Amino acid sequence: MDDMDKHLLTFLLLFGAGVAAELQLEPLNQAVLLGSNVSFTATVTGPWMIMTWDVEKLLVLTINRDTGALPSAPRYQAQNVSTNVRSAWEFSIVNVSHNDNGPIVCTIQGPTGARTANLSVQERGTVDIVTGNLTVKHGKEAEFRCEASDWFPRPEVSWLLDGVEANASLYNTTSQAQGTLTSVLRVQAVRDTAVQCRANVSAATVSRSVYLVVVPDWTVLIAVVVSFGGAALLVLLIIGIIFCCRWKKEKGETASVDSGLSPSIHETSAHGSTEVYALQFTKHRHATIV
Ligand SMILES: *[C@@H]1O[C@H](CO)[C@@H](O)[C@H](O)[C@H]1NC(C)=O
Ligand SMILES: *[C@@H]1O[C@H](CO)[C@@H](O)[C@H](O)[C@H]1NC(C)=O
Ligand SMILES: *[C@@H]1O[C@H](CO)[C@@H](O)[C@H](O)[C@H]1NC(C)=O
Ligand SMILES: *[C@@H]1O[C@H](CO)[C@@H](O)[C@H](O)[C@H]1NC(C)=O
Ligand SMILES: *[C@@H]1O[C@H](CO)[C@@H](O)[C@H](O)[C@H]1NC(C)=O
Ligand SMILES: *[C@@H]1O[C@H](CO)[C@@H](O)[C@H](O)[C@H]1NC(C)=O
Ligand SMILES: *[C@@H]1O[C@H](CO)[C@@H](O)[C@H](O)[C@H]1NC(C)=O
Ligand SMILES: *[C@@H]1O[C@H](CO)[C@@H](O)[C@H](O)[C@H]1NC(C)=O
Repeated sequence: MDDMDKHLLTFLLLFGAGVAAELQLEPLNQAVLLGSNVSFTATVTGPWMIMTWDVEKLLVLTINRDTGALPSAPRYQAQNVSTNVRSAWEFSIVNVSHNDNGPIVCTIQGPTGARTANLSVQERGTVDIVTGNLTVKHGKEAEFRCEASDWFPRPEVSWLLDGVEANASLYNTTSQAQGTLTSVLRVQAVRDTAVQCRANVSAATVSRSVYLVVVPDWTVLIAVVVSFGGAALLVLLIIGIIFCCRWKKEKGETASVDSGLSPSIHETSAHGSTEVYALQFTKHRHATIV
């Protein structure tokens, strides 16, 4: 075999239809905090010679299967993580910056082509419940204000009441200048509650807690007492009216049936029940007939 044949063989090996290598990149999505290190692993099955890594459209690292990584900027590193059965390289970026945010492309020279992963470089900001603890009268509305600053990207802000996610209809979150988010929670003061404001991006979560202290509302209590008193008076009044009407009605009936009733029977009807009176009335009638 001369040199020409050797090259042809290599060419066929690397680019022939049946022998294209398979490239797997992991993980495909990664969110990390600014300044941390991040790694991606490329696993190749089949023949390959050259592997390259691109960050934000710049070629930053080249790996030769036989000789390893070519010299590069120190923040881009390669580590051979191959085993006897598979060829694999771990690519790392040390101290990630916002410039690293975006696609990370691993390419195998030849027909295999490239695989792309997404890197999200995030920042953990601060969370503060500016209203602090609140003491509110029972039944009144408490309004808590939470501020989330210096996050990247825009965080999700949520509230927890006694550790349970608050219904989203209880709060509103708006963007202020300089990317600060302000969230306002409105809750009915029913009982003492731990109120937590939480901001998160996929790489980090920060939360702060304050307390809602509920005190009895004396005006409500007095109103309750007064209305109970009023209700009692009303009931007495109604009872009074009923008895009065009944007495009047019975007095009228008695008068029409027998005007000669004795005063003692009149007294009984005024105080006792209808049955008792009816009995006595019948008796009296009998007495009259006899
Ligand atoms: C990477 O992000 C781009 C757009 O931001 C999206 O179209 C693509 O599907 C993402 N890739 C993966 C592997 O999630
Ligand atoms: C990042 O990698 C560098 C170099 O390998 C190392 O010195 C540093 O401790 C690592 N930082 C973290 C947060 O792991
Ligand atoms: C990578 O590791 C594999 C398995 O340990 C080894 O066979 C191969 O020679 C290494 N490659 C380089 C360039 O060090
Ligand atoms: C990380 O990079 C930033 C600039 O991107 C630099 O200011 C900082 O000193 C670096 N940190 C480390 C530990 O190298
Ligand atoms: C809120 O109340 C708790 C417990 O009563 C206390 O420890 C904490 O310091 C208070 N926070 C503020 C901001 O006043
Ligand atoms: C949240 O509140 C809305 C309206 O008040 C209600 O329709 C919805 O069912 C509530 N969701 C949960 C999970 O309680
Ligand atoms: C949130 O905003 C909407 C529209 O501005 C308003 O109708 C709603 O009452 C607000 N909810 C809270 C809890 O502030
Ligand atoms: C916040 O965390 C939840 C799960 O804990 C996640 O579903 C959500 O996507 C995160 N928000 C952001 C903005 O990453």
